[in-house]
Amino acid sequence: MIGIGCDHGGYALKQEIIKYLEEKKVPYKDFGCDSEQSVDYPVYAKKVANAVLDGTCEKGILICGTGIGISITANKIKGIRCALCHDCFSAQATREHNDANILAMGGRIVGPGLAVKIVDTFLNTAFSNDERHIRRINMIEE
Ligand code: RB5
Repeated sequence: MIGIGCDHGGYALKQEIIKYLEEKKVPYKDFGCDSEQSVDYPVYAKKVANAVLDGTCEKGILICGTGIGISITANKIKGIRCALCHDCFSAQATREHNDANILAMGGRIVGPGLAVKIVDTFLNTAFSNDERHIRRINMIEE
């Protein structure tokens, strides 16, 4: 199950990503928001982050205007490794090296064509399980 959430700045892109997840038959849970009416991104960052932490969702996707505010919020929560990615190389590297559990993007930064490729890369790249990466991830939490 993939948790997805956004603010008003990410709403349009979230709809495109949901369309893509449905096409690919990827199960998802939409944590809002539900329109382009102005809302506060921390609310949605916390909903998705908590769903990842409690195991309801295996990974999360968060979108605001830039991806910055929503990723900063998610990364304040212990156990969350939220990666702001606007290219496929970063999405692949953050899964392999950081075992990132949430992908963040900016709906005002990236178009839907690239965004779905970033999502696809993020969801389909496994963590490397290399000892050095495990060690560094453990150090984040210390
Ligand atoms: C909302 O206008 C905007 O500030 C928000 O979507 C995001 O970009 C914050 O980092």
